[in-house]
Amino acid sequence: STVEDFQPQNWQASSTEALKISLIPAAEGAGALQFSPTFTYPIFGDEEQIYGFRDLVIHLVFDSVTFKPFLNVKYSATAGDDVDAQRDVIDKITPFLPEGDFIQRDEAAWVDAFMKERETFDINALGAERVDEYKGAADGATYGVYRAPLGQLAAADAAAQATNPGAQSPLVRFWKRIQILTLLFIEAATYISLEDEPEWELYLTFNEADRTLVGLCTAYKYWDYRDAGAFDSSEAPAYRKKISQFLVLPPYQGQGHGSALYNAIYRGWFRDSTVTELTVEEPNEAFDDMRDRNDLEMLERAGFFAEVPAEPAHSGDRLLVSDEWAEQMRHKYKLEQRQFSRLLEMALLHLGR
Ligand code: ACO
Repeated sequence: STVEDFQPQNWQASSTEALKISLIPAAEGAGALQFSPTFTYPIFGDEEQIYGFRDLVIHLVFDSVTFKPFLNVKYSATAGDDVDAQRDVIDKITPFLPEGDFIQRDEAAWVDAFMKERETFDINALGAERVDEYKGAADGATYGVYRAPLGQLAAADAAAQATNPGAQSPLVRFWKRIQILTLLFIEAATYISLEDEPEWELYLTFNEADRTLVGLCTAYKYWDYRDAGAFDSSEAPAYRKKISQFLVLPPYQGQGHGSALYNAIYRGWFRDSTVTELTVEEPNEAFDDMRDRNDLEMLERAGFFAEVPAEPAHSGDRLLVSDEWAEQMRHKYKLEQRQFSRLLEMALLHLGR
């Protein structure tokens, strides 16, 4: 042992730096896409530190088609017993991986498993509905946006498990494999509870040519109590829909996929007469930017700018349109209060009023 062995910082690692996420591309022979997580505190604790190793690397690898996970812990030395130290790390991460559905250490077994699964993997067999398609701006490939009733499929699984303990729909299995990505890239994300909420929807964007997943979004609907009166009088039910977790996988960010997914979701809800409003749970700045840009483009296409009254009144240095008009427009475009106010402000600036 050397002097360095006695310095505690040499046995300490940032969990966010130690954890490496990789995707194995669909094309044979293409190199793995590797990137770091943004957040690891849900798994490794608020300090995001791991003690007891030198040169620690935790590999969490996914096949980019089936998303079958592979976990492998590497290091040059441990401070104490090797087996105990490894178990410590593994015990922290495995509760977040799909039970009985990941492979640890044995890379050859994992490759065999996902290659075999790839032979029959079919997006259309996931029980999702294809709701949109577009051409990727960066590669010209065709991307499909799919919507799946995740909560209902999980409930059906639970019912089936009464007689068949192993019953699991392909979509729920796929979700359990990918959901760790929400923790690693979305601040304050927690695992959604499928048992408590049958209304969870899962949106997935796939590259149609090679079947790789590029983005996901979870959403649910909730009763719009403000229209409860209308429902009592046997009018159509009214729901607000909420985007909960929204993620474009890091290698595919900045290519328009987030915008395409958001727009597909917005359009579907806009067309649905039972949906009164689109809301978003704790959006971050990047999401808000993306949403503003797409909402403004949507409003432009819909002719909203032409509808803004020609002479909004002034109050000091504030521009005013009537509350009544603003509410009418907000309802028409199914936007929530905060978002509509932001957009209106930007629209007025844009119109130079
Ligand atoms: N070619 C190149 N660049 C493009 C293209 C294109 N065709 N289209 C858009 N862009 C640029 C945009 O101009 C924008 O640039 P900007 O950063 O200068 O504004 C940028 O790419 C982002 O737009 P998109 O590509 O449509 O968005 P992206 O696919 O990167 O998705 C998102 C945005 C969802 C925030 C993504 O980056 C992400 O998942 N980040 C990590 C997780 C996260 O923060 N999620 C949101 C949390 S909040 C919540 O979940 C409710």
